[in-house]
Amino acid sequence: MSGAAAGRTAVIAGLGCHLPPDVVTNEDLTRRLDTSDEWIRSRTGIATRHVVDPGTATSDLAVEAGRRALDSAGCEADAVVLATTTPDQPCPATAPAVAARLGLGPVAAFDVSAVCSGFLYGLATATGLIASGTAERVLLIAADAFTTIIDPADRGTAVIFADGAGAVVLRAGDPAEPGAIGPVVLGSDGGLSRLIEVPAGGSRQRSSGVAPAPGEEFFRMAGREVYRHAVDRMTASSRQAAEAAGWAGPQDADRFAAHQANARILATVADDLGIAPERRLSNIERVGNTGAASLPVLLAQSAAEGTLTAGHRLLLTAFGGGLSWGATALVWPDVKPV
Ligand code: ACO
Repeated sequence: MSGAAAGRTAVIAGLGCHLPPDVVTNEDLTRRLDTSDEWIRSRTGIATRHVVDPGTATSDLAVEAGRRALDSAGCEADAVVLATTTPDQPCPATAPAVAARLGLGPVAAFDVSAVCSGFLYGLATATGLIASGTAERVLLIAADAFTTIIDPADRGTAVIFADGAGAVVLRAGDPAEPGAIGPVVLGSDGGLSRLIEVPAGGSRQRSSGVAPAPGEEFFRMAGREVYRHAVDRMTASSRQAAEAAGWAGPQDADRFAAHQANARILATVADDLGIAPERRLSNIERVGNTGAASLPVLLAQSAAEGTLTAGHRLLLTAFGGGLSWGATALVWPDVKPV
């Protein structure tokens, strides 16, 4: 759990998102995979998703979302934190290049790797930078070109994952203000890391001196097993976050935003938490599972559409590879996405 030092925490000051223009429908996928629009809609809730074109990298998405968040906040940032599963290259981190392209100068910039929980891990990290006085304004971007690691022939993942970026600007402020980030509940279970993985491309495979077997550079997910853990961990961490925020329980949430992994998972978690359907934010039908970007894209779109407004008590939760998970509760501030 990460908390803010007394008297100073991070406050959301701006947000924005960017989705690549190319849209792939379920019908498009049926032309190259043994699947159907009916299966994808009924098992995942997804109808369309945005995908990068060849040559577009995570940093390209991150720069667009970051610029919008900075415009929304009307300020610059003295640190950039980028949550991503798909850095432009294994070394160096992608955040410094994003900071440079945004013209932010020689600021602190680094990546956070927590797969689909990356936005919440990044939020806790950025809050720590501000609470400790290391930074005054942090640009937190969560971006994934997830389709670049998906096996196009794997119908279990190719129908789910998609690309996008979302960003928030966090400024130093008072813990009692709307938009203030309080405790973030975080957790992991590395004993189950094999359930979600890209087997090749790291030191383990390289040090063996053996070239990766075909397909080992692709993302793999044991969907059915992951499903159960996603429900359990998002439900439990949401309860903990509500309690840490001093709420009576998750049912106090005016709005509930969960990592857009699968519409059935989201419904099960929200039902278990006693959150009414009209309080659940969702965009999975239009954007699919965009990895780390999922939560900030959902927040930016919901704020733009008016389903998330100033004063709403907001409960956020995510789950992903690691296994990793997180949750936090806050009061939504008066910010306008660009
Ligand atoms: N089209 C048609 N049939 C399919 C498809 C498809 N696209 N994909 C799988 N099937 C088949 C399977 O082969 C299987 O057939 P069988 O019964 O003959 O063996 C059947 O459908 C059922 O397969 P399941 O995998 O059990 O399907 P399930 O209902 O569990 O849905 C899914 C699969 C959507 C992947 C689901 O398990 C899921 O969403 N899991 C969790 C995802 C998640 O939360 N991930 C973590 C966050 S993401 C991250 O961190 C990167």
